Amino acid sequence: MNKHLWQQKWVIGNWKMNGSLQENQQLVQKIHQNLENMDSVCIGIAPPTVYLSQIHNIVKETTHNHIHTCAQDVSRFDNKGAYTGEVSAQMLQDIGVNIVLIGHSERSLYFNEKNDIQRIKIENVLRTGLTPLLCVGESIKEREDGREKEAVAYQLSILKGLKTQYFAVAYEPVWAIGTGKVANKEQIADMHQFIYDEILSLTGNNANIRVLYGGSVNENNAAEIFSVPHVDGALVGGASLKYESFANIINAAQKA
Ligand code: PGA
Repeated sequence: MNKHLWQQKWVIGNWKMNGSLQENQQLVQKIHQNLENMDSVCIGIAPPTVYLSQIHNIVKETTHNHIHTCAQDVSRFDNKGAYTGEVSAQMLQDIGVNIVLIGHSERSLYFNEKNDIQRIKIENVLRTGLTPLLCVGESIKEREDGREKEAVAYQLSILKGLKTQYFAVAYEPVWAIGTGKVANKEQIADMHQFIYDEILSLTGNNANIRVLYGGSVNENNAAEIFSVPHVDGALVGGASLKYESFANIINAAQKA
């Protein structure tokens, strides 16, 4: 585990179900060639699983600042076996993945993944020496009812008792994902402080923590979001698919 990573700002592009061999090659090549001196930033790219090796082969040549290959998900099943369609944490590690997203709200919405499955996935990822990035965030209903912290605390509760001192979380209010609606600075500051406090109380004072914000982050709002206390980076969906916008967000993180 690279300790330096836990002092950097993380900017991770979550491509979701987007990309093609040709588009990926151009985009990642450009990032690789132009963003080598961003030494305060941990840059990550999370493409669809079929493209992970392609991305890893491009970024592994990076010398100054390693660009991390990230997976959007992992199987709940460990190692290998008769689980058609599944990809294990060991396989991700084998092809050079560093960071694995766990529990993105789209996984919960469309695949009904809840705390129990997320916990198993995190354990699998940790066992292989990779870094899990747990996604949490309240629905619009939970926020309107004033239950946003209760919702986030419940999702964070799976961190208790894990065999690690390193905790990476992305706070993504569900109502801000892909909607163009960003949480305001007060909402972000309040929730990020809360998440830090929760992680420390669940896991002890030795925890190394990164809390990323996600949900409609773009090149125009990134600098302001990075200026909020306890914002250690961003998980970027739509704006990570174009070089200019992703590069501007990374630049904002470098300056923050
Ligand atoms: P968005 O997605 O930036 O397109 O809102 C963020 C995410 O879902 O991680």
